[in-house]
Order: sequence, then structure tokens, then C-alpha cells
Amino acid sequence: MSLLEQRSLPFRSRQIHNSGFARETNDFYATPDWVTEALLRHFKPRGAVWEPCCGTGAISEVVAGQGHKVVSTDIADYGYGKPGVDIFRRRTMPKGCQCLITNPPYGETGTHRNQDRSPAAMLRFVEHTLMLAGSVQGQLALLVRLQWIAGKRAAELMSAAPFSAVIALKKRIQWFEMGKNTKTAQHHHAWVVFDWQHEPGRPPALLFG
Ligand SMILES: C[S@@+](CC[C@H](N)C(=O)[O-])C[C@H]1O[C@@H](n2cnc3c(N)ncnc32)[C@H](O)[C@@H]1O
Repeated sequence: MSLLEQRSLPFRSRQIHNSGFARETNDFYATPDWVTEALLRHFKPRGAVWEPCCGTGAISEVVAGQGHKVVSTDIADYGYGKPGVDIFRRRTMPKGCQCLITNPPYGETGTHRNQDRSPAAMLRFVEHTLMLAGSVQGQLALLVRLQWIAGKRAAELMSAAPFSAVIALKKRIQWFEMGKNTKTAQHHHAWVVFDWQHEPGRPPALLFG
């Protein structure tokens, strides 16, 4: 089965985390639909989209719902897409894909327990996905904490890359629902968008979602 065909694998109901414990044991958090909708109001993917850290398909479903073909893979098995695909072991995009969209594993406080949670891990992820998107002169959209952009090494990396837009989310993302114990979200997030067809020297657009 081709990766494009994986998109049609059965979809199990998606769960937004409902407790800190669930997050700790699964080390996974789903992106609320409005976050991906905000991206797609400003960003038009070229060709099929690869969601390489798809989790339970939160982003994939919204992107597919807007008529795009989506290849969904993940290192872990959440019953959605193709499991067992470590993005760092991939050197090429799935056939037909020219665009990567994901909420990377290092955006909040980390991902799988056995993985590095350091800022360096996030930079490595961005570098690697930039290489993959670059291999097809494609696009890359990553959900990050807004403040991440201003870090020295992140700023250097982004300045050297075909950074085309930042879509700052006006509303804070509530990652976890814990009923009356739900805490107010502390961080602002943004989509950072890279496009290998972005005109060199043209400044990135600042947009709001
Ligand atoms: C923050 S969750 C986001 C899930 C999904 N993208 C969403 O927005 O709902 C990060 C995901 O990255 C996956 N992941 C972590 N390391 C990975 C790797 N090396 N290759 C592929 N997926 C990875 C995790 O299993 C998890 O599903």
C-alpha cells in the first residue's frame, strides 16, 4: 500500500487530553481544529500534504476536510495513519507530497519519554523537515510557541531558511481539558511557514489567526 493510500486507514475517535496523567503516559497532545483552520485561512498547500507526526489525526482530518490529500504517519501507534515511521529516518517526502504540516513533538514540553526534550531537539526537527521540504521545493508549516521564534539559534536557522510567514494565533491553545480544574493556557503559539519557492530576500509575512 502506498503512503498516499494510508490516508484512508480507519479513523478512530480523536481524544483531546483530559488529564495531565494521560499526557504523561501517552506523551501526546492533539491540536484543536481551530488551530489548523487558522493556518489554512492563510496558507494554501501545494500538492498532497504529509503529516509526519499525526497522532490521532487532529491536523490530518482538518486538512483532508478542506479537500487536500494527506499522508499521515507517526512513530507511535494511535490507531490512525501509518505507525512506526520515524521522521528522522526519512530522507525523502512520500510520493506526491510537496507540503509538510505538523505540530512537532518538541513544542510543549516534549514527546515520547525516551526522546530528547531539549531545544536542540526542536532545532534538529526543524532542520530535518526543512531538508525534506527542500527536496521537492516544497512547503513546511510547523506549530510552535510564539516565543520560540525569538530564540537565538531558532532565529538564525529561520533567517537562513526560506521563511515565508508567521501566523500568530490570537487565542491561546487550551491543550488539556480538566473540567473545573482546567488551567488558563499560558503560552501563545504561532504557525511558522517555510516555502522553498519563496522569493529570496522577500520578508516573511506577519499574519494573525
Ligand atoms: C505534539 S503531538 C502532535 C500530534 C498531532 N500532530 C496533532 O497535532 O494532533 C507529537 C507527535 O509526534 C510524534 N512523534 C514524536 N517523535 C516522532 C518521530 N521521531 N517521528 C515521527 N513522529 C514522532 C508523537 O508520537 C506524537 O504523536
